[in-house]
Amino acid sequence: MINPDIKLKNLFHAGDGRIPPYLAGREPERKNFQDCVDLLIQKYPADQNMIIYGPRGNGKTALLRYLQEAVQKEAGDKLEILWVTPSQFKDLAQLVGLIVGNDQNLIKKALKLFERMFDDFTASANIGMASVKASLKNSKEMLALEDLLREKGKRKPFILIIDEAHSLQPDIGQILLNASQNVRAERCPFFLVLAGTPNLQTVLNQSSATFWDKSSIFPLGRLSEKDARKALTTPLESCQVACSEEVSMEVTGRSQCYPYFIQIWGSCIADQLVRTGDREVTLETLTEVEDMAIAKCSSIYIHRFDELNMMGLVPLAIDIGGAFAENGNQPLPIQELEDLVRLSLKKLGEPANHETVQENMQKLLHIGYVWKISVLSEIEKRDPLLCYEPGIPSLMKFVRGQRRP
Ligand SMILES: Nc1ncnc2c1ncn2[C@@H]1O[C@H](COP(=O)(O)OP(=O)(O)OP(=O)(O)O)[C@@H](O)[C@H]1O
Ligand SMILES: [Mg+2]
Repeated sequence: MINPDIKLKNLFHAGDGRIPPYLAGREPERKNFQDCVDLLIQKYPADQNMIIYGPRGNGKTALLRYLQEAVQKEAGDKLEILWVTPSQFKDLAQLVGLIVGNDQNLIKKALKLFERMFDDFTASANIGMASVKASLKNSKEMLALEDLLREKGKRKPFILIIDEAHSLQPDIGQILLNASQNVRAERCPFFLVLAGTPNLQTVLNQSSATFWDKSSIFPLGRLSEKDARKALTTPLESCQVACSEEVSMEVTGRSQCYPYFIQIWGSCIADQLVRTGDREVTLETLTEVEDMAIAKCSSIYIHRFDELNMMGLVPLAIDIGGAFAENGNQPLPIQELEDLVRLSLKKLGEPANHETVQENMQKLLHIGYVWKISVLSEIEKRDPLLCYEPGIPSLMKFVRGQRRP
């Protein structure tokens, strides 16, 4: 039996890619993934490709790791899942190398399919195949990849997960996304899942004009308050630690339902309980750990501030933070915030037109400073209102705090 103190000490982990002790919420994403897996097990293709996008630290990787593990447990060797990030394949040949893996027959097949396209095919090494000859047309490569996916699907239904897909190269994306749509249309049991930051749509549109619209799209924002509280209390309860509603509300308030911060608060609380031997979290516990938790959260602020600074976005970010602060950190309609950005750019003496406003908003979305949501109107029968909300409200406060006095 695991020593309860060791279990408690290692309960929460902030941002190291591991699955959290309790993956809260995300029901629609889980259901969609499971529905597609059910189809795959029956040897049908997934209904649609799946795209998950959201600001950093909201749990894209954690969710996909959780789903991957759950499917591997449930479906065992009935299907195959491959997890890749674009940093593992700098060209199509390397991606093919990852897809064929160590399957000798598939390697032979791939050699045949791609022999006229690759200079130096060393698939057995799994990586390192030479780059695709530039003169060959994408369409040929796409047909070859389609054949390979069909071949792979005949052996076992196949799920390809691409995390960090916002860094997918457009030329590889073009071949992969189109091949994926084509083989699924032919009932090949294949499921492509992509996850990335909010500029993923722009990146994928460069590869395929229709892929985004034909996929199931899941924007991943912060957790709901109820789910954020569960992310804290369920793991603690599994260690026989009591945590009242008042206390969990306080933590979710301070972490603003941002999953990364919940993990930080959770780990600080767990450390404190191990130190004191207490098995109840009280408001006093929070007071005791708050310096540590705030310091750990601040390292994120500093990192994000540096990024904003490097991109020359600090003055804009300060103005945007001010607008949200005046609005009680509630969502602001897209037009309203973009008008404010235009004014800010003018004030800074920079070009202030539609393109520059959009360019700056894209950058701010990509680094998660703001996040787009649609807000249901209180007035019945009105369409939902597209708005921006703060990525992390406390980050805005931090950024505004860096103004010269
Ligand atoms: N649904 C959730 N419930 C509880 N904790 C979560 C949840 N989602 C994510 N977390 C935790 O939040 C932290 C950040 O998650 P993760 O690294 O998956 O975010 P991400 O969106 O992939 O970020 P990035 O874009 O930087 O890769 C991790 O510590 C993770 O365990
Ligand atoms: Mg991630």
